[in-house]
Amino acid sequence: MKKTVLYGDRTNVSLSQNLARELHLPLFYPEIHVFPDGEKRIRVVEEVVGLEIFILKSFSTPVDGNILEFLFTIDALKRAGGKSVTAIIPYLAYQRADHVFRSGEAVPLSVIVSLIEKAGVNSCVLLEPHSIKIPELFTIPVTHVSAIPIFAEKISSMFQNLSQVSVVSPDMGGIRRVKQLADLLPGVTWAAVNKDRDLVSGNINATHHIGDISPICVIVDDICSTGKTIAQAADYLSRQGAREVYCFCTHPVFSGDVTAILQSANLKMICITDSLYVSPEKQFDTLETISVASLLANHINRK
Ligand code: R5P
Repeated sequence: MKKTVLYGDRTNVSLSQNLARELHLPLFYPEIHVFPDGEKRIRVVEEVVGLEIFILKSFSTPVDGNILEFLFTIDALKRAGGKSVTAIIPYLAYQRADHVFRSGEAVPLSVIVSLIEKAGVNSCVLLEPHSIKIPELFTIPVTHVSAIPIFAEKISSMFQNLSQVSVVSPDMGGIRRVKQLADLLPGVTWAAVNKDRDLVSGNINATHHIGDISPICVIVDDICSTGKTIAQAADYLSRQGAREVYCFCTHPVFSGDVTAILQSANLKMICITDSLYVSPEKQFDTLETISVASLLANHINRK
């Protein structure tokens, strides 16, 4: 019999517990001691010699500290004799920095990928990577899990007449995602809004679109950080005649004034996943969360 355990993510306890339940695995957490200067001592208390280990960790804020904590945990697990480590990383930070945008820039994602591999991770499970090219940056096996099927299920339960619905990407980079979603929802059309973002000020402008805008629009995005992309797209769609605008987003990074921005946007509802924990102060009435625990477990069980 294979001996397997799950090490959970302390920043996302409910997802850790739900995933452990779905996978029928014992759940442990690494012991963490933070020194006065912020350095961390990580220790694995359990006996892990010869075990196949799953470790769940989203690279949430503070991003760099959480990445280091994850890398130290992998090192501890390997030194303690773990046979193999599969990293389940629902939210991989720095994935938007996967190439050089302006000359002289670093490529943070490529550094992060090398660190993950160097630390001793044997395989990875990623949820909704920002681009389909991201798994190719790894030399270890990567399982790409998409939240699109669970979004499709929820959307078909929400609307009786799907021919009144368009799924809309708030930028041209997300066209693949909305086409995939439209394929799962007979009658639904798709569109994509062009977004101009000023790299220095961070200001966003929705300028024009391609595709069909129906009376009901569902914006679909992978990441919501400041909320500006979604808010601008919602505003643009309303100006183009959409009667109701909804939003589905996989990774609620939720930084800065995101709650105020999303609450004042022209949106009837925003659906996110629990790939990242959202604190009660950042929650609001029209925000709904779908768990990815069973989606991740199904992919892991298939491996
Ligand atoms: C960009 O390419 C992503 O898909 C998201 O649209 C973007 O990261 C959202 O950022 P923000 O919420 O800060 O506008």
